[in-house]
Amino acid sequence: MAEETPERDRLEMLILKAKEAGELIKSFQGEIKLISHYDCDGICSAAIMVKALEREEKDFCLSFVEQLTSDEILELAKENNRFIIFLDLGSGQLEGIKNNLMGEDVRVIISDHHQIEGAAASDNLVPQHKRCEHIFREQSSPNLLHVNPIDYGITENISGSGIAYLLARTLSPENRELSELGVIGAIGDSQIGSIGADWGLFGLNKEILKDAQTTGKIRVSRGLRIWGKTKRPVHKALEYSVDPYIPGISGSESGSVQFLKELGIPLKNEKGKWRTLSDLSDEETKKLSSEIIKERMRGNEANPEWIFGDVYELLDKPDFRDANEFATVLNAAGKQGLGYLGVSLCLNSPKAFSDIRSVLNSYRKEIGRSLNWIYQNKESIKTMENANYILAGANVPEHVISNVTSIVSRSGFMSGDKPVFAFVDTGNGKVKISARASDSLVKKGFNLRDIMVEGVKEVGGEGGGHHGASGGRIPKGSEERFINSVELILKKAKTTEGGKHANGIGKETGKEREGDAGKEEGERGREAGEEAREGREKMEGKGLVRYLGS
Ligand code: C5P
Ligand code: ZN
Repeated sequence: MAEETPERDRLEMLILKAKEAGELIKSFQGEIKLISHYDCDGICSAAIMVKALEREEKDFCLSFVEQLTSDEILELAKENNRFIIFLDLGSGQLEGIKNNLMGEDVRVIISDHHQIEGAAASDNLVPQHKRCEHIFREQSSPNLLHVNPIDYGITENISGSGIAYLLARTLSPENRELSELGVIGAIGDSQIGSIGADWGLFGLNKEILKDAQTTGKIRVSRGLRIWGKTKRPVHKALEYSVDPYIPGISGSESGSVQFLKELGIPLKNEKGKWRTLSDLSDEETKKLSSEIIKERMRGNEANPEWIFGDVYELLDKPDFRDANEFATVLNAAGKQGLGYLGVSLCLNSPKAFSDIRSVLNSYRKEIGRSLNWIYQNKESIKTMENANYILAGANVPEHVISNVTSIVSRSGFMSGDKPVFAFVDTGNGKVKISARASDSLVKKGFNLRDIMVEGVKEVGGEGGGHHGASGGRIPKGSEERFINSVELILKKAKTTEGGKHANGIGKETGKEREGDAGKEEGERGREAGEEAREGREKMEGKGLVRYLGS
């Protein structure tokens, strides 16, 4: 077997491709059409490109789509666009793009990090070198540039906005200030992960983060890794915390309230307003952290002290200091068809910050209504052997289902540590599916993207996503068949030789649930941590500066 190409060289090849794309942009006169994904990562990608094109004094128009379907491509083909840039999408439709949009004097850049789909990829891209599992590909047309790290064997720790940022950096060093958006996009795409006790952004994401720190846009500190630091009442933040799990408190409002009372931490301030985690004094935070660790020890949780992680603070967004929360806001805006408002927030328009308030209020209300509906209509939940399914029909609006599924899957409300699939009607004869798996399932090797892709194929739908979060669209009426097919896929995965699946689905063995699970987990975590740290060290350092200049 030929030698594996070092990570630095693979990054260099990716950046060379981004530079080619940058040159294509610089040499073009006329209007550029930007088409981006409607979620947080797509909005950040779009904001990066908008600002970068403004700096180049290029004309552009921007639109957002939920997904790039074949119909969408056919519509685009009618528009006579001379230059299209796809952001955070497009890699799954290379064949459709090549066959329908390309022509003499038409330029297309696909700036994406999603999987390159089957036949489309192999038709469009000619394998050039094959070294170990890494396949470097060359496009057949100089006017169709595919900037996707997967082409270079970089399969994780980079988001769509990270790629858009690389592209922007090749246009001008001034665009280094846009690194903040590359980080927010990655956070919105659930790319914060853990390596052993180490919890945060890794790999290329961490390189981009360094740029954001250097330009004074983001401050990183270590802190309690609990969601909702500045927006959720502290007792709610603890109640909703599933990872880290706090026995007797996670999933129990009364447990959480009682716990805080015993610690002498007041829930409200002197004005009667709910206090958030960020309102606590240093002393209170210290006390809270050490008591959480004690509770976790009492509950025999593995690695009770693994409750800290990197906290990312946005220094130029006083209304949304917590990067996680800002990412959630962008997702909310995008999913309500307000991607442009998200872009304005990213670019710090004061009007956008006042407009978003009412949008968020109605969004929160809708999420609250949807969660209540699910909690009060337990018959809508189908608990099967291998996963839980929520059949919400028209009772939960399509634009909140991703958040609702994330909240429900983290809430401890569903039985067992199984993936959750939620179904809602979209009103056009289709059903939208959102699926989520917990961090612990992902660590065991679950890949929800593969499960989704295989499941929707059975019923003639479309889908994709990542290991811990995936989504799809299937014809109305095919939900049962989809569920049966997912159950079969998961069952097969469990019974495949040694309990392992090609995707690693169901690697879990009974042993891990037994008494010495904690010890074993700890050892595995440490090993994985060391291995990953070594890999990371190779990648980090001055990676981007070396290729792009400071
Ligand atoms: O829509 P939702 O947030 O549940 O999607 C989770 C993930 O699945 C996202 O990364 C999204 O890009 C992906 N997805 C997809 N195809 C769809 C729907 C979602 O690839 N039809
Ligand atoms: Zn993305």
